[in-house]
Amino acid sequence: KKRVVSGVQPTGSIHLGNYFGAIKNWVSLQNVYDTLFFIVDLHAITLPHDTQQLSKDTKSTAAIYLACGVDPSKASVFVQSHVRAHVELMWLLSSITPIGWLNRMIQFKEKSRKAGDDEVGVALLTYPVLMASDILLYQSDFVPVGEDQKQHLELTRDLAERVNNLYGGRKWKKLGGRGGAIFKVPEPLIPPTGARIMSLTDGLSKMSKSAPSDQSRINILDPKDLIANKIKRCKTDSLPCLEFDNPERPECNNLLSIYQLASGKTKEEIVQECQNMNWGTFKPLLTDALIDHLQPIQVRYEELMSDSGYLDKVLEEGARNAADIADATLHNVYQAMGFLRRH
Ligand code: TYM
Repeated sequence: KKRVVSGVQPTGSIHLGNYFGAIKNWVSLQNVYDTLFFIVDLHAITLPHDTQQLSKDTKSTAAIYLACGVDPSKASVFVQSHVRAHVELMWLLSSITPIGWLNRMIQFKEKSRKAGDDEVGVALLTYPVLMASDILLYQSDFVPVGEDQKQHLELTRDLAERVNNLYGGRKWKKLGGRGGAIFKVPEPLIPPTGARIMSLTDGLSKMSKSAPSDQSRINILDPKDLIANKIKRCKTDSLPCLEFDNPERPECNNLLSIYQLASGKTKEEIVQECQNMNWGTFKPLLTDALIDHLQPIQVRYEELMSDSGYLDKVLEEGARNAADIADATLHNVYQAMGFLRRH
């Protein structure tokens, strides 16, 4: 079976971008592939974090995965920091990662620009190397993510090839290994719709956990009234009718796409249904579709959070499965890099 891995950071609230760009797509993949879904808590400390909140958010994110339909009898669900191999492989990969590659990462440039050199931790720069470890440890074939992770996936592929070239093949065989490729080179899976959900207050920037205004996003756990309020106040335009794909109308395209995803209809159906509407008729429709879609998830979430023992068990078992696979890869990398074998 081909393997699929992916993860979300447990910072703040999980929003529609995380859901439609990533989590929702995991659910159909788990029926076909061998899947591992992790909560990347180690990534969450690359910017200043709240120590009272980290473990709570980690558990709540796990509950959201399951509430959205990730099924622990099919997928391994675990916490990144519970499998030590992630950090260990990261160090090994760091040694062959050119700093120039990391300096070119758009997310690093954006996040570090906001903070300034003396405020930014080294981990913000090396963050994609940890992400590459998350993926390469499991010999993953596919990584379902939103558009914003595409560049990190390209770096992951480049690192895999670099390691394979430097240490794999005949050289590895001489060291007593299997020879051949050390890492599988993974491919991103980016959904045709939902890969880039935009902010509700600005159709040109993406919906994000770190945007200061909560009005800019809809969180998976937002109560009904809040959803209604956010849609009521969201940015629109003053052109007649509604349409997809007009670059002059980014808000319109975004809201129609969200409606398409929440309602489960096709793009053509949405065009038929909405093209002659105005905002006053469309907004209540969108609000209802979102509430209908999110409410069952919220009910399951509450159930899961009230049975903490169950979640702990899922995460423990998930980490055990993951560690078996991860340790085997890590062993190979140590061997191929020429380290003295541990007895
Ligand atoms: P994170 O936590 O920022 O986002 C989690 C997932 O949500 C997607 N996403 C979006 N999709 C569509 N529209 C948006 N506005 C939007 N915002 C976020 C992201 O693309 C991502 O798929 N570095 C990663 C987490 C990570 C990871 C991994 C992912 C760490 N290791 C290994 C896959 C494999 C991150 O910070 O995602």
